[in-house]
Amino acid sequence: RKLSGRTPAAKKEPPDFAFAFDIDGVLLRSATPIPGASQSLAYLQQQQIPFILLTNGGGKHESQRVSDLSRSLSLTTPLTTQNFIQSHTPYADFLHNSSSGAGLSAHSTILVIGGSGNQCRSVAESYGFKSVITPADIFTSYPEIWPFSSVFDSYYSSFARPLPKPINPTSPSSSLKIDAVLIFHDPRDWALDTQLVLDLLLSDSGILGTVSSRNGDKDLPNNGYQQHDQPPLYFSNPDLLWAAGWHLPRLGQGGFIHSLEGIWRRLTHGAELRRTVIGKPSALTYEFAEKRLDRYRRDLICQTMGSEMATPGTIRDLKKVYMVGDNPESDIMGANNHKSQRGTEWVSVLVKTGVFREGESRYDFGKRPELKPRIIVENVRAAVDWALRKEE
Ligand code: G3P
Ligand code: MG
Repeated sequence: RKLSGRTPAAKKEPPDFAFAFDIDGVLLRSATPIPGASQSLAYLQQQQIPFILLTNGGGKHESQRVSDLSRSLSLTTPLTTQNFIQSHTPYADFLHNSSSGAGLSAHSTILVIGGSGNQCRSVAESYGFKSVITPADIFTSYPEIWPFSSVFDSYYSSFARPLPKPINPTSPSSSLKIDAVLIFHDPRDWALDTQLVLDLLLSDSGILGTVSSRNGDKDLPNNGYQQHDQPPLYFSNPDLLWAAGWHLPRLGQGGFIHSLEGIWRRLTHGAELRRTVIGKPSALTYEFAEKRLDRYRRDLICQTMGSEMATPGTIRDLKKVYMVGDNPESDIMGANNHKSQRGTEWVSVLVKTGVFREGESRYDFGKRPELKPRIIVENVRAAVDWALRKEE
């Protein structure tokens, strides 16, 4: 079943294996398709072999991203949001799935950081959050909160909204209170965003403009920092590096995390920066992806074979997922470490068209065996060929 075959799939049940494809560095470099990417996806679509796209990217609504991707990859069968997961997609579960541990309600006031303009705010609102503010809203109302972002005044004022409450530290009950900080995508203004996150972590229960009296209390763990209901801090992606349009890897959201953490530790005499990071390689994201892929495959089988296949016990379980990625520290490690609740085996396949460079000490598989892929291949087309040969 190498890619050479072009006969359309007869109406037969899709196989018990599937693919998960990373995007940046595997299918695209910025918006430019990597050679072989379009043909590989088109072939799998034609052969009814299920796959999902699993990216640490984000910043736009899933529906926008799949239409952009289908166009960039010239796919005649457009991708759907059912087989597309980006870094912040699991945030939608935070409201509808109490086990996510976020404890947020639709009316929690969340500070959404990252992305361009109001794109991430509208994604958060599409997930069901009703009270979403951005650093632009805060800065436009209180420019003195960070003296150096006035150079971005026209940008911020073009999409800022009035705050639901003023910042009024002398009257905390009527002052703006943030219930959680959710980083959706790479921040565009690390300085302002860092200042606001630090303000909130030092605040009394997320009331912006206050400082908790318990900060620095040596008798408390973490010197009292983050011991008084400060807003939880969520990041959607830990990537220190990623493969963009430039020929060398670029700093990702993980760069912002480490920069913020460095300042936090200096400010707090060494307190840890307590946060939750989702995205690859987190267990939360891989479980979310496997559940989504399993459902997508079952829907594909019912579409292909008829709805009677939906009868429980009729469809063979998903046995194997080939995870094709370019970043050993996210794609490969996540697949290698994933503990499937369905007995599904994840096989990690590393390509050379993105972040990974052979011989780089960062990827010394001897020292870091969790980064070692099942196989290293040139590109996504070679990855699909290799997997299909194994399934013959
Ligand atoms: O911001 C995107 C970057 O962190 C990596 O994206 O598609 O390689 O997981 P991807
Ligand atoms: Mg990648």
